[in-house]
Amino acid sequence: MKIVSVIGARPQIIKAAALSRAIKNIYSDNITELIVHTGQHYDDNMSQVFFDELGIPKPNYNLNVGSSSHGVQTARMIEGLEEIFLNEKPDYVVVYGDTNSTLAAAIAASKIHIPIVHIEAGLRSFNKRMPEEINRIMCDHASTLLFSPTKTGYDNLIREGFEKSTKKQYNADNPAVFHCGDVMYDNSLYFKEIALDKSCVLKENDLKEGNFILGTIHRDNNTDQAERLNAIISSLIQISENENIVLPLHPRTAKLLDKNLDAELFEKLKSSQSIKLIPPVSFLDMIALESNCKMVITDSGGVQKESYFFEKPCIILRPETEWKEIVEVGAAVIADADENKILMAYEKFLSNSLQNYPDIFGDGKAAEFICKTMIENN
Ligand code: UD1
Ligand code: UDP
Repeated sequence: MKIVSVIGARPQIIKAAALSRAIKNIYSDNITELIVHTGQHYDDNMSQVFFDELGIPKPNYNLNVGSSSHGVQTARMIEGLEEIFLNEKPDYVVVYGDTNSTLAAAIAASKIHIPIVHIEAGLRSFNKRMPEEINRIMCDHASTLLFSPTKTGYDNLIREGFEKSTKKQYNADNPAVFHCGDVMYDNSLYFKEIALDKSCVLKENDLKEGNFILGTIHRDNNTDQAERLNAIISSLIQISENENIVLPLHPRTAKLLDKNLDAELFEKLKSSQSIKLIPPVSFLDMIALESNCKMVITDSGGVQKESYFFEKPCIILRPETEWKEIVEVGAAVIADADENKILMAYEKFLSNSLQNYPDIFGDGKAAEFICKTMIENN
């Protein structure tokens, strides 16, 4: 069986590592994987570092689309992907998550009738102003095999009209949905020991276990709306009166701080002794930070989940989350970009954080399940 995996943005490269590892270790006799990188992310620390570190095969193709508006970026990807799919004639096109690379691959593959496998299917924020919400809904409804990491994601799909999978011969008109656990959980389990052994990020930044908070900000509504960015940074500055905070900055955020932050706040941020602004870090460094911090403050989907995997309380800088289980069990709080809510969540977690983290994201073998299911249904 021949599959083409399409990746482009940082979290997809990381997710693809889980599938490539399962293929290499268990299914190399059954599955040949080609990798297409759309080039959506291209800085070394947003792309190459993950290939170097996570054992992902070098991409067979790179479309080098780079950054532009949604329409231009997605269109360039569709054009390049269609040509590759027509030439390679894969049995499946495998897509991850909810980025423009996901949507482009889903459109290109579905129009030429190549079955789509969607990993991380069914997640919904119920907020269609998020580009990711549009991408994931459209991709799910063009897919043949849909793998949801959580029960909530699976239930969303059933509610949208997908049937519980019983009949074989699946295709885009008769798709199959599975609740199989999260490939990101597979990765966190697999790389945790390696990260603790190899990463020097704590030492390099003078951090010690439990003495810092980890933050990430990159969601477009937080970086592009000045009011929200100011509220978030102002909260972090207040929290930093008592804490060290480390912020690996997404390039989108790094480029917009100067433009969208009030001048005084920007100066305070830059001159702060307790807030460390650092470039994006590798996945092993990220795991080292997540597993050693005292708390996570983030608007990232992946980082929300990883805070849960490493049993750290998480303040979510969004008005809603697709990972609602982690809020329901009390591991995370939705604080949006609201200063009061962020500070209250911080105080709450200082005095009272979750002690038991129930299993929500599977058994660490989601990628194996996905490979096995693809083979059985080919
Ligand atoms: C994209 C995804 C988002 C995902 C995020 C992961 C979409 C619509 N959004 O958002 O769902 O959470 O990736 O990180 O697909 N840039 C660089 N260097 C790079 C990449 C980006 O400087 O290597 C800068 C450019 O100024 C670019 C901006 O970041 O315009 C945004 O990049 P883009 O890929 O369009 O969206 P993300 O915000 O990264
Ligand atoms: N990540 C990383 N280095 C960083 C920030 C994030 O390796 O500096 C990893 C993080 O551990 C997670 C993934 O990138 O696995 C999340 O990606 P991101 O936050 O960019 O996107 P999202 O998950 O919100 O789509």
